[in-house]
Amino acid sequence: MTDRQEAEPGQPDAPAAPGGLPRHVAIIMDGNGRWATARGLPRVEGHRRGVEALRRTLKAAREIGIEIVTIYSFSSENWSRPLAEVSALMGLLKRFIRNDLAELHEAGVRVRIAGDRHDLAPDIARLLVEAEALTAGNRRQTLVVAFNYGSRQEIANAARALAEEVAAGRRDPASITPEAIAGRLSTSGIPDPDLIIRTSGEERLSNFMLWQAAYSELVFQPILWPDYGREALLEALAEYGRRERRFGGLATATGG
Ligand code: IPE
Ligand code: IPE
Ligand code: MG
Repeated sequence: MTDRQEAEPGQPDAPAAPGGLPRHVAIIMDGNGRWATARGLPRVEGHRRGVEALRRTLKAAREIGIEIVTIYSFSSENWSRPLAEVSALMGLLKRFIRNDLAELHEAGVRVRIAGDRHDLAPDIARLLVEAEALTAGNRRQTLVVAFNYGSRQEIANAARALAEEVAAGRRDPASITPEAIAGRLSTSGIPDPDLIIRTSGEERLSNFMLWQAAYSELVFQPILWPDYGREALLEALAEYGRRERRFGGLATATGG
């Protein structure tokens, strides 16, 4: 055990790295199916264990003091999976909100949903509204749940909304700036992720935060999501701390 892992709950224990803690960590939780298949279990069992990993990871992120956590829970393209798997994932999301919302609320977490709300089953749509409404006043941490989320669709929706304003004569095309587009995304008002983590060894974004990731640090970890937790998160944070962010500028002078 390292010193970091022995830190008291509730104490910020940033990894000892020059870069410091990211303000916003986004996680592409991947590898549930492979975790289950490797054990001869149905894929759905991997998703169930994935929810437990999510609980562990969110608790650790709160203890470490991450201000904003985004989780990619279901993509616009995940509807193409077999109906039984899609239904199981919907069931798990509902159960997660029903079981964990009170605890998140008590812990001071504000829940925000990113993604397309249209055409969702009414019970899911209601739960999402309830989660946001109950926790709207919380300030300790923001949890962004990317659900039915696709970045290209999100950008296209923003473009359409702005085009409609122009067509209606309410907007000058010259006012369509990066800020105007960002303000129309479902992450409006949320700072861009500083760190994007993807588990399972896949090294791609899979339609996640294409706009917002412009200057995010990407960390790919070979661990399958159901095995994720505090230790793996600390490793990703330590890797982030070793990165040098330049945003197109020059490295900070170190003398010589
Ligand atoms: C991530 O695990 C969960 C979702 C995409 C909903 P996967 O289900 O993608 O697991 P693999 O990638 O098939 O192992
Ligand atoms: C991305 O994972 C979506 C989520 C983690 C929710 P996928 O497993 O769906 O992505 P691909 O198909 O491997 O690119
Ligand atoms: Mg996958």
